[in-house]
Amino acid sequence: MMLCNPHNPVGTVYTRTELEKIGDFCSQNNLFICSDEIHAQLVIDGCEKHIPIASINADLSNRTVTLMSLNKVFNISGVGLGWCICSNPDIRKKIVRMVDHQSIYPNIIAYEATCAALDDGDAWRSELLEYLWGNQLLIRNWLRNRSDFFWALSPATYLAWLRCDKGYTQNQFLNNGVALMSGKDFGGDEYSNFFRLNYALPKQQLMKALSKIELACQAKN
Ligand SMILES: Cc1ncc(COP(=O)(O)O)c(C=O)c1O
Repeated sequence: MMLCNPHNPVGTVYTRTELEKIGDFCSQNNLFICSDEIHAQLVIDGCEKHIPIASINADLSNRTVTLMSLNKVFNISGVGLGWCICSNPDIRKKIVRMVDHQSIYPNIIAYEATCAALDDGDAWRSELLEYLWGNQLLIRNWLRNRSDFFWALSPATYLAWLRCDKGYTQNQFLNNGVALMSGKDFGGDEYSNFFRLNYALPKQQLMKALSKIELACQAKN
C-alpha cells in the first residue's frame, strides 16, 4: 500500500479512524505499507493532527516504512536528504542493503541544513504556517467571487487542489504566465478537471498569479 499522509496534492490529513481502517485492510491482506509523510510538518495549527500510520499499533509498525524529510517545510529539496523509519528488522536489512548500493549520498551541507532545521527551525516553521494560512485565506476569498473553481478544505501542504468544470486547459494558464499543474499528472484523464496551485510564495506574487488566472479564464483555449 502506497500512502501519502498528509496527502499531495489534496492536502488531506488522515484521521485516526481512517488510518485504522487502512491499517485493518493492510493487515487482513498482508500488505506492507510505504507511507510518505514528507508533508507532516505542514499541517495548519488547529486542524487535524498528523498521525504516522506506523504509530497506530504494533502490527502496523511492523509492516510500515515511513518516509520523512524536512525538504518541504524548509524548502531545502536541493540538499536531497530524507530518511525512512522502519521497525521491522527484515525490511530494515533490505533497506540498508539498498542504500549501501546507492551511489548518491547527501553531502555535508544536507546534514548541516537538516540538523539546523531540527535544532533551531521551530520559530521559522510557525511563522511559515501562519503565512501559508494567510495565503490560503487569500485564495479562499478570491474563490468566493468565482463559480468556476472549487477547493475543498485543505488542512495541510501549500497546495490548492482546484476543481474546475469549465474545460479550461493547462496551456490556457501557461499562455498567461501561470504554471498550474494539470490534474492529469496525478491520476490520468479522470482528473483533467483539476489543477494544482502551489501557493507557497509571497502574497504579492500570489495576487498577481490569481489575476493572471482570471485573465486566462477569459482567454480562448
Ligand atoms: C509527497 C511527496 N513525497 C516526496 C516528494 C519528493 O521530495 P523531494 O523533492 O524533496 O525529493 C514530494 C515532492 O513534491 C512530495 O510531494
